Amino acid sequence: MEPIETASRDEIAALQLSRLKKTLGWAYERVPHYRARFEAAGVHPDDLHALADLAKFPFTTKTDLRDTYPFGMFAVPMDDVVRVHASSGTTGKPTVVGYTQNDIDTWARIMARSLHAGGATRSDIIHVTHGYGLFTGGLGVHYGAERLGCTVVPISGGQTERQVQLIQDFKATMIVGTPSYVLNIVDEMERLGIDPASTTLKRGMFGAEPWGEQMRGELQTRLGIDAMDLYGLSEVIGPGVAAECIESKDGPVIWEDHFYPEIIDPETGAVLPEGSPGELVFTSLTKEALPIVRYRTRDLTRLLPPTARSFRRMGKITGRSDDMLIIRGVNVFPSQIEEQILKVPKLSAHYLLEVSRRGHMDELDVRVEAKPDVISEADRESAARELQHHIKALIGINTRIHIEATGVIERSTGKAKRVVDKRPK
Ligand code: DLL
Repeated sequence: MEPIETASRDEIAALQLSRLKKTLGWAYERVPHYRARFEAAGVHPDDLHALADLAKFPFTTKTDLRDTYPFGMFAVPMDDVVRVHASSGTTGKPTVVGYTQNDIDTWARIMARSLHAGGATRSDIIHVTHGYGLFTGGLGVHYGAERLGCTVVPISGGQTERQVQLIQDFKATMIVGTPSYVLNIVDEMERLGIDPASTTLKRGMFGAEPWGEQMRGELQTRLGIDAMDLYGLSEVIGPGVAAECIESKDGPVIWEDHFYPEIIDPETGAVLPEGSPGELVFTSLTKEALPIVRYRTRDLTRLLPPTARSFRRMGKITGRSDDMLIIRGVNVFPSQIEEQILKVPKLSAHYLLEVSRRGHMDELDVRVEAKPDVISEADRESAARELQHHIKALIGINTRIHIEATGVIERSTGKAKRVVDKRPK
């Protein structure tokens, strides 16, 4: 562990304040877009005297990065940028992020810290199923695992049968990936007649998409591992912004010496008191190529007091504000439906939510696969009834449930697609 992980809150706050001043100055001096935004808001980096003064500064959003596509928010000349990553950009232009050599080193360090929090040591053989490429998942985890001294298997996503083979042959002890893709690997093991709990895997770190306690239970029991949460986003650095500790499993610890978190009211932008649910906002404290000031993540969660480390934690992400479905006036997140699905023993974690509109009414169809051994019509019907009842009782909406055969719901090798919105635009 690094000394700062167990430092006093005063020491952490002092470090944050000095780094925050530097970052604001760096952004203002070097990025015309930030300078213009600060000036429009009537603030100057010198106006920051205490951490709370950050609230005076304007937010940064994905739109700012798109408007300055591809490199307009970079604070260093391209000669100093050693790597770029980019978001998939399903709508419009992708967002591009850049790193200096120091940024890559910082990232490797906090990612190594994250893996260590998740129980990894240099003796681990880490099977990395996150995509390698423009996505930050694969390379981000990879550099951290190497930094920690682990043996990295950079398999990336896909070729699921081969993944099963290599986990066995290389005797992987830890797996890192999206929870949905790792579950596909678990299914594949079972299809091949291998007991997933019998492999050498002991631990896993999962992230890049929302997952709840039910999913943790599913991964832990079926694989016989400890499952920890790994959080991050490209605009802030990539995976390793926060990570859950194996000894407490009580929400990801935010590496607050590098990223300053705030929770805001997504409607008004006001900073909310500690513990209130709202939208997570990050300011980078040490990044050079792409300093990020008050980045609105759209992720909904809350800040929690320190436990296993001196840094604050974040609660599990309940959803992204842009993923929220409004069904007949009720706000629903896909993760809430997932929790209900996983409570029904006969159902699998493979599902798709279809939203449509009849007249003025939104309707939700839940397509979910039964577990492979659930074949009788009576069992399938009772599972559907049970799920419909849970969703009605706990979330408050009526749904149509369709129990699908194994393999019908499309599998992804990275972030799972959970919602199809068929409503007219
Ligand atoms: O998904 C970075 C990452 C890679 C994190 C590997 C963890 C592991 P983006 O593609 O920019 O970066 O997507 C970031 O994914 O704003 C969240 O909505 C979601 N997300 C990431 N981690 C978690 C998590 C990577 N642990 C977006 N729980 C974020 C819930 C997560 N959602």
